[in-house]
Amino acid sequence: MTYQNPPTTPRKSATFDDYAMSEIRRAAATGIYDIRGSGAKRKVPHFDDLLFLGASISRYALEGYRERCDTNVVLGTRFAKKPIELKIPITIAGMSFGSLSGPAKEALGRGATLSGTTTTTGDGGMTEEERGHSEKLVYQILPSRYGMNPRDLRRADAIEVVVGQGAKPGGGGMLLGQKISDRVAEMRTLPKGIDQRSACRHPDWTGPDDLEIKILEIREITDWEKPIYVKIGGTRPYYDTALAVKAGADVVVLDGMQGGTAATQEVFIEHVGLPILACIRPAVKALQDLGMHRKVQLIVSGGIRNGADVAKALALGADAVAIGTAALIALGDNDPHWESEYQKLGTTAGAYDDWHEGKDPAGITTQDPELMKRVDPVAAGRRLANYLKVMTLEAQTVARACGKNHLHNLEPEDLCALTVEASAMAGVPLAGTNWIPGKTGF
Ligand SMILES: Cc1cc2nc3c(=O)[nH]c(=O)nc-3n(C[C@H](O)[C@H](O)[C@H](O)COP(=O)(O)O)c2cc1C
Repeated sequence: MTYQNPPTTPRKSATFDDYAMSEIRRAAATGIYDIRGSGAKRKVPHFDDLLFLGASISRYALEGYRERCDTNVVLGTRFAKKPIELKIPITIAGMSFGSLSGPAKEALGRGATLSGTTTTTGDGGMTEEERGHSEKLVYQILPSRYGMNPRDLRRADAIEVVVGQGAKPGGGGMLLGQKISDRVAEMRTLPKGIDQRSACRHPDWTGPDDLEIKILEIREITDWEKPIYVKIGGTRPYYDTALAVKAGADVVVLDGMQGGTAATQEVFIEHVGLPILACIRPAVKALQDLGMHRKVQLIVSGGIRNGADVAKALALGADAVAIGTAALIALGDNDPHWESEYQKLGTTAGAYDDWHEGKDPAGITTQDPELMKRVDPVAAGRRLANYLKVMTLEAQTVARACGKNHLHNLEPEDLCALTVEASAMAGVPLAGTNWIPGKTGF
């Protein structure tokens, strides 16, 4: 009998995986880089790598149905005459009108209002639907100044100066021509149908000293009434938080690399910035070092999905979280209901991220008058409120199990980490040990 070589299993490269190869082919065919929406898709250390240590003998649990666990938070207690009082520590992140349809913005306002929390404008200004349906609305001032005007500053309940975003720290926004409808063009005072690439930095200030002047100007325009937030992308959270506080911020909003965006280069989304898990402790340390923890509030975002994520962010020292992507999913984004239409676009429900093209079958990231009719703002707002309620209940469940009668009483000591990386980043012990790698580092 002649010896035959046994068949070998074809082996694909872990480095040149299917996705890497398809991207090389796409780049070779088109000569242009990929632009997309949504956040980082690859796996990075995240809240899933942390676990709560519920009560047993050494800790005393609270009874779920009988004992209170409060969830309220007040934002802007440092300087503002009218701080923002929220019933839940979950806010709706800034998402631009232009990237999102009018009905989607209205639904966000409705859902937030039903839940006793805030929603936030974005690049592109304040729409009447959003202002009208948001009991408390945060107004963003962005480098682009698209849709920005002093009248709307005064109509807002708080002001958020955006220095950066987690999905693209150091980069500017993008809104491609397909989505520049008459209304979007008018609000942004730019021509219809032409790509808009907004600035990566504010035109009128070059550093922290100018930021301080800017904040003072806004305080004067708004009569020192409204809290002023400063939003930063997570890259150097200790120093950026300290500088934001020094410049006079009432609230620091810190967005990690998983944070969603309406559109930017994929290389930015996947390769710039830190996971939010790595940002919270250094930011909290900066606040503590300045004697400002809980005096300047910290809102964190980037991949928050459920009540466990909320509770973990709060246990690490945040005062509240913000959600973008998850809120859109609650409204109906990427819903399998539209699968046949996603397939026509060459994608599938759950993976659709060409938000810049304006063809969203769910009617959320589009300005197409027919598609946007698919969002019923009342029903979608109710879904968002349901989802926020569930997240809050989940966070309370965990907090009670840790013996806490307010979500803010959660602390790092309630947590352990499943991986060495998460342990080092979150500054909590590796599960089953009392070891925190690099504890002396920050
Ligand atoms: C469709 C969309 C539009 C956005 N537009 C803005 C914007 O105009 N200004 C801004 O500061 N951030 C913007 N963001 C980022 C969010 O404010 C927030 O930082 C991010 O979505 C949080 O992460 P998450 O999506 O994982 O919850 C946008 C995000 C999405 C998904």
